[in-house]
Amino acid sequence: MQLQLEYLGTFHVYLTSEIGELNHVVAWWSYDSLDDRQVRRAKMITDPRWQDYLAMVGDLLQLQNHPHAVPRLLFTPALRLTMLIQQAAIVGSGIIGRSWAIVFARAGVPARLYDSMPDNRAKALERIAEALAQSAVLVGDAAAQKAVLDRITVADSLADVAADADFVHECIDEKLDSKKTVFSELDRCVKPTAILATTTSSFPVSTFASDLPGRARCIVVHPATPPHLLPVTEICPAPFTDQAVTDATFAFMEQCGQVPVLIRFEQSSFVLNRMQAALVVEMLRCLNSGIISPRDIDKIISQGFGLRWAFLGPFEGVDLNAVGGIREYLDRFGFIFDDMARQNWRGGAVVTPEAIAMLEVYARAQLPLGAIGERTMWRDRAIASLRELKENSPDPAVRQDGQP
Ligand SMILES: NC(=O)c1ccc[n+]([C@@H]2O[C@H](COP(=O)([O-])OP(=O)(O)OC[C@H]3O[C@@H](n4cnc5c(N)ncnc54)[C@H](O)[C@@H]3O)[C@@H](O)[C@H]2O)c1
Repeated sequence: MQLQLEYLGTFHVYLTSEIGELNHVVAWWSYDSLDDRQVRRAKMITDPRWQDYLAMVGDLLQLQNHPHAVPRLLFTPALRLTMLIQQAAIVGSGIIGRSWAIVFARAGVPARLYDSMPDNRAKALERIAEALAQSAVLVGDAAAQKAVLDRITVADSLADVAADADFVHECIDEKLDSKKTVFSELDRCVKPTAILATTTSSFPVSTFASDLPGRARCIVVHPATPPHLLPVTEICPAPFTDQAVTDATFAFMEQCGQVPVLIRFEQSSFVLNRMQAALVVEMLRCLNSGIISPRDIDKIISQGFGLRWAFLGPFEGVDLNAVGGIREYLDRFGFIFDDMARQNWRGGAVVTPEAIAMLEVYARAQLPLGAIGERTMWRDRAIASLRELKENSPDPAVRQDGQP
């Protein structure tokens, strides 16, 4: 296993003297940056043993002139130890497995695919080539697409695909028993240091991996479809997942250009699908009540919220809809959501003082109130550009006459 010291912001080094089991902090430093030389040296760390690691950190930070001091690195969210992922494996070459292969190979990480259906294995590379061609605007010309494709290979067995992998992504059908079987096989045949990820849409990893000897390296890495185009990726560790595995998975996703989000505790279907379900359930309720046609329901997103949500999350979006930001918006309009929560979901109020306080902290940390006007102008320019793109990209597969 290779380790990499990744700098994410301010971190602290504590210098302690050891007397028996007691440690006394004798000095501490905060660092806002590592210069290039230090980062390069940090990347040379190959030994995961802590004492060596700490000695090297001490050396790195030039603490040698404190002979009685022991450098201790306090791991803050600003600094994390990550495993270098040099080979990825994917089990299941369906819609999601092929897309993950593109994500990894596009980031320069060789990816090997395995599928239990020989026909799917045989067609995988051709289908990936087609997908790459459709995303040329992101991947690049034919030569760039070929370079990505050349990093993807197909294996004939589970053992082959997993042999050298540092990160194995299970992408088979959404069947609990199948996931349990595949994880159990993978846990036996992958390297001891490999991470075992599942792309499951609904099953917390503890529902099928809790009995495995290697359960500490198991984690959910759930995308939106297709991940090579939609970067957001839910990362959901089980209570037994090693923090280093969560950190390494986050770092790997970022290295691959994804946007990981942490699901703090396990819950069926995580958050992405829960949010989508809230919308879909209401769409179906409206449809079933006869209040609106399916075409008009789709327009509410594709010609409405979707244009805004392409640039701003829903919280960010409503922050711009009142001069006093999200607090004023919720003070004025929050009762609408509370009423709907009570009427449609038989739930209690959702626009609580605590929720407003959390959202205000979030919104104002991103954007001072005085900058709302500037961000609104940016939003308007961005939406205008998106509308122009839409108008220049008519969908050839759909009837344009509006008739059902
Ligand atoms: N399709 C989506 O929108 C979406 C989105 C996010 C996550 N997911 C999740 O991704 C996973 C895969 O979904 P998909 O849509 O790609 O399905 P898919 O049917 O397109 O692909 C599944 C592939 O797995 C293969 N497979 C089945 N059992 C196998 C085994 N034991 N060993 C090796 N290969 C095996 C199948 O032959 C098939 O090619 C599911 O867990 C699903 O919940 C799907």
